[in-house]
Amino acid sequence: MPRVSIIGTGYVGLCTGLMLAENGHNVTLVDIDPQKVKNVQSGTAPFHEPGLDDALKTQRSTGRLTATTDTQTAIQNTTHTFLCVGTPQDEDGAADLTAIEKAARDVGKALQGIEREHTLITKSTVPPGTTRTLIQPAARNAANDAEGDHLHIAMNPEFLREGSAIEDARNPDKIVIGSDDPETIPRVEILYQNHDAPIVRTDASTAEMIKYANNAFLATKITFANEMANLAETVGADWEDIAQAIGLDHRINPNFFRAGVGFGGSCFPKDVQAIAHLAREHERRSRLLDAVLEANHAQPIRAVDLLEEETGPLEGKRIALLGLSFKPDTDDVRNTRAAPIYDELTQRGAKVTAHDPQAAKNFQDLRPDARIVDTVDEALQGAHGVIVQAAWTAYTKLEPTFFTTHMEDAIVVDGRRALDAEALKQAGITYRAIGQGRRLDA
Ligand code: UGA
Repeated sequence: MPRVSIIGTGYVGLCTGLMLAENGHNVTLVDIDPQKVKNVQSGTAPFHEPGLDDALKTQRSTGRLTATTDTQTAIQNTTHTFLCVGTPQDEDGAADLTAIEKAARDVGKALQGIEREHTLITKSTVPPGTTRTLIQPAARNAANDAEGDHLHIAMNPEFLREGSAIEDARNPDKIVIGSDDPETIPRVEILYQNHDAPIVRTDASTAEMIKYANNAFLATKITFANEMANLAETVGADWEDIAQAIGLDHRINPNFFRAGVGFGGSCFPKDVQAIAHLAREHERRSRLLDAVLEANHAQPIRAVDLLEEETGPLEGKRIALLGLSFKPDTDDVRNTRAAPIYDELTQRGAKVTAHDPQAAKNFQDLRPDARIVDTVDEALQGAHGVIVQAAWTAYTKLEPTFFTTHMEDAIVVDGRRALDAEALKQAGITYRAIGQGRRLDA
């Protein structure tokens, strides 16, 4: 029976660990941060993710999920180790691989002289070639197993979305397993026995590239939607109807086709930059991905322009900014579009009052001067306009009268096209959204 250790208890590590424990495997989560370990042991999620607390408590009670700071013992007591540490972006956009290289060495050191089979699996997003040229030698050299007689190496990327990470871990669209040694692939496959998702078996570099290409494609698709929506709006056409119609073409499909203020988060911006950087390094500059990054950088400003078209010059105006996380159902503010929107509003002289159901503290760390209030009422009170940046249900379910009652001027810019435009219009609210060609007051 395989026993699994997981290095790194971020989103990926925790959700992967939970899913494996739910599938009956014994899992040890390893982290250098004792607080994170304590959190897992007490069944408390270290960040906001729907369902995570409950899932943690359930798996803790089965005895199959545990956590420790003791890397060596965890690895020695297990048969498989997943590397789930962060691969942040360095100054020139490349992935910083310091943490993952160290983790690979730690695994090797823990296995030194132990002549038992062990499978080391990269789950972190790493540039193609990393498992083969960095992780494998780092781990095997530290283990004194240069030939890989006992230490087997694989790459198994993740496709979890924050906000639905547990569900995504339980029900993946696909499982990708890459190894340069075909005999290693079944060693990883046994961990996924309870899933019926298709398995793509390949080599390590291809598995790494699949992850980047997957994210780059989705980021490009969203950017295409944004560009078309901007144009549609200008020429009096409506992106929602266009997206619905072309999404019905089964070659296109309607998912990840929502226009808005651009993609944020810890993955798309970082991964597109990393792959664009890799392309430049290999003298294969990707004009497409460079353009995606440029367009995504400009997109949040579109919401501010729409607002100013309705409010007139923003200087001295009170503006509410709703939604500070990079998307709803997470407290993650990494690369959130709320930051450039906030900056642009303040630069144009607006007095901004912001709100978020979960991410207020994290956003305050990003923008210490921002005025962030505890309730939506306070944010809207006396405002001359509002931009909804993240489509939390707390905002989408608001009655139209809520806006008219609290705001000085009921002007709503829907940065995610998530509100009920018709209902707002009925209540006499000025509603603008990216890609909304048909003026509702027409
Ligand atoms: C993304 C991918 O969707 C996951 O498959 C992947 O595993 C993950 O990155 C990762 O590499 O770890 P995530 O960053 O959690 O997941 O969030 P998404 O739901 O993909 O949203 C990313 C951004 O795109 C958000 O700012 C969201 O608002 C925006 N978006 C999404 C749109 O603007 N339009 C859409 O139609 C969909």
